[in-house]
Amino acid sequence: MKVAVAGKGGVGKTTIAGTLARLLGRDGLRILAVDADPSYTLWSALGIPPDEAKKIIPLTENETLIEERLKIDGAKGYSGFFKLNPRVDDLAEKFAIEGPDNVSLLVAGTVDIGGSGCMCPSATLLKTLMRHLILGTDEAFVMDMDAGIENLGRGTTRGMDALLVVTEPGRRSLDILGKIRSLAQDIDVGRVFAVGNKVAAPEDEEMIQEWVKSEEIPLLGIVPLDDTIKQADRKGVAPLDLDPNSPGMLAINEIKQRLIEETGN
Ligand SMILES: Nc1ncnc2c1ncn2[C@@H]1O[C@H](COP(=O)(O)OP(=O)(O)OP(=O)(O)O)[C@@H](O)[C@H]1O
Ligand SMILES: [Mg+2]
Repeated sequence: MKVAVAGKGGVGKTTIAGTLARLLGRDGLRILAVDADPSYTLWSALGIPPDEAKKIIPLTENETLIEERLKIDGAKGYSGFFKLNPRVDDLAEKFAIEGPDNVSLLVAGTVDIGGSGCMCPSATLLKTLMRHLILGTDEAFVMDMDAGIENLGRGTTRGMDALLVVTEPGRRSLDILGKIRSLAQDIDVGRVFAVGNKVAAPEDEEMIQEWVKSEEIPLLGIVPLDDTIKQADRKGVAPLDLDPNSPGMLAINEIKQRLIEETGN
């Protein structure tokens, strides 16, 4: 199972990606959690301690690694030339850190591969890594993406089983569903699903239901506004460790179940 979690800023992507990864891990699957947000915070939603997180160097910021993998033998610096097909098959094993519940975390750094039309060594490393993770291995992964949808159009999600678009009950975040719909062909992900989050009232749920219906994007589930999730963030622990039976955690568990049914994995 290869799943990416996207959506507008602050809607709950990281919370849902981290919890989902751990719940899948509890089912006995080895899960690679990939943090593709330059301001990486997935470690906290996974329940990796801050002391360990402090040591993380995102792959795209690891100069030594980039030099070692991208530099053409004998060349001085990159001087505009670098390998376009670096070795990446060992990166998850070498750089991922172990978290709870069978989940390991790989902090990729930004996947802003094309943002400024950048054809630079770090972007090439990441693009090759993503291609390897999606097409070249059987490893299950859950990828937490940065806010917005800019990176979806650039091939980072091509070949995945599912893209979960997290949305709050509000126009600004629901708007992304329409944008994703028009990108759908370009992004070529297996399935696009919406996930409602921070739902506090029946009107909230109705609003999300109406939007997904009009955008024809299936709704995988709804996560209520949950005080456990807020408190966990305040305390710097994973919500799943604070209360695995909170309404939000139970809702994400149902979403996990439905995801497995829908993608046949
Ligand atoms: N269901 C929920 N109930 C209560 N609080 C929530 C819920 N989901 C997320 N939050 C809170 O909302 C905030 C944003 O969540 P999170 O970091 O998961 O969002 P994000 O989409 O990953 O944000 P960013 O775009 O900055 O990466 C956090 O403080 C989190 O604790
Ligand atoms: Mg996030």
